[in-house]
Amino acid sequence: VVLGLDLGTSGVKVVALSAAGEVMAQALRPYPLLTPQAGWTEQRPRDWTAATLEALGDVSDQLKGAGHTPLALGLSGQMHGAVFLDAEGDVIRPAPLWNDQRTGAAVAEIEAAIPRAELIARTGNRAVSGFQLPKLLWLRSAEPQNFARVRRVLLPKDYLGFLLTGQARTEPSDASGIGALNLTTKTWDKDVLNALKLDADLFPEVVESWAVVGQLLPEMASATGLPAGLPIIAGGGDNAAAGVALGLSSGRPELGSVSLGTSGVLFAPLAEPTPDPLGRVHLFAHADGGYNLLGVTLSAAGALQWFRDKLAPETPFQTLLDEAAGIQSAEGVTFLPFLSGERSPHMNPDLRASFSGLSLSHGRPQMVRALLEGTAFALADTYDVMRPLSGLTTLLATGGGARSAFWLGLVAGALGLEVQQTAREPGAAEGAAVLAMPAAGLYGSVQAAMMTLAPSGQAVAAVDVAEGLSAYQAARQQAVGESI
Ligand code: XUL
Repeated sequence: VVLGLDLGTSGVKVVALSAAGEVMAQALRPYPLLTPQAGWTEQRPRDWTAATLEALGDVSDQLKGAGHTPLALGLSGQMHGAVFLDAEGDVIRPAPLWNDQRTGAAVAEIEAAIPRAELIARTGNRAVSGFQLPKLLWLRSAEPQNFARVRRVLLPKDYLGFLLTGQARTEPSDASGIGALNLTTKTWDKDVLNALKLDADLFPEVVESWAVVGQLLPEMASATGLPAGLPIIAGGGDNAAAGVALGLSSGRPELGSVSLGTSGVLFAPLAEPTPDPLGRVHLFAHADGGYNLLGVTLSAAGALQWFRDKLAPETPFQTLLDEAAGIQSAEGVTFLPFLSGERSPHMNPDLRASFSGLSLSHGRPQMVRALLEGTAFALADTYDVMRPLSGLTTLLATGGGARSAFWLGLVAGALGLEVQQTAREPGAAEGAAVLAMPAAGLYGSVQAAMMTLAPSGQAVAAVDVAEGLSAYQAARQQAVGESI
């Protein structure tokens, strides 16, 4: 069996997959999210370490009980976070995460040093507050005594690789979320780093996503029960690894995914690194050796969760969804879903949500219908930016909201793409295991493993949303003050 690990924001997940893709063992361990100041989100790398060693130990015990031998471990995890290490390899301070908002001044510093169009052409992205690069600049100005001690900065999953093997490495899919990787050469962009007076030696060597980072250290073997010398594979950022698990290949740009989790994510594989010239969606390296566009809307299933928790506590989600599906339209009610500001395509943390068009005749069904439509329309605005760059025809659906065929039908109607539900929903941990299969000797290549192990999908019926979409676009234009 091959192990895959996903170092998530709420906890770590470890799975053991057979060569045929069956889950033979799994374990989850949570850890806390720290919010020491408004807009700050951090985690302690030692909490990741403790949870990871426990989860690996749990899976190791399950495998021993069943007589299976692990052949390799692939890594994946939350993107963009910054683990600052000193000369001894010790962690200097808690790690700011992907959703941390402290870096406004650092983003302005990057924009002043490098013209936006040039940064996008080189790295695939404009300066984004959540990325790792502005976190390093924040440390330099806010905590200079800590910055002076930094010898290396690692992404979350790469820190685990360092801990398990003693080798600091990264791979393109996660490294492209730092903000300093040249997407054409997949090496650190010296001109970008020079413009910011940063040393490229702060960042680890970039290897292929399916490459061996190193072997499991003897002390980590005794802490987990896994065999010493177990090959540890670089793996991928969580979105890329989840894409691998779904069989989204950069050689097949027509098949992408839509995730209705807390946020909404559109993933479009690409063979070539073609960014949006305005940087309204992300361009990253994919873990299969190609590229992908990633559009992230910050409120998807999270918007329904908010509505239920605040306005209809105790009501099952299914009741709200059934009420919304039971009417023909939102009857003129519109919802802009910017409860947490917005990333794609507006890149504006200050936007706010609203319901509009309400009259005495409206009630909960119309409001929930407008909310579901609004989250789908926000994805459609993002897809409008991706459409000329991507070859999408079909999306595999993931995330909690994907259990609702009606909600997916709204997404299909709003985007004009086929949306499919899958019987199995493998995630980033499974994708990390797939990335480790070639090194384990089970498949000749990542492509071969991906294509064999991808789940099949079943199309949902698209819902006609034309009436709601034009009302939404008018309301959004008024609120955002720009057309897409
Ligand atoms: C992607 C992003 C998130 C994190 C979550 O750009 O910020 O999807 O990877 O783990």
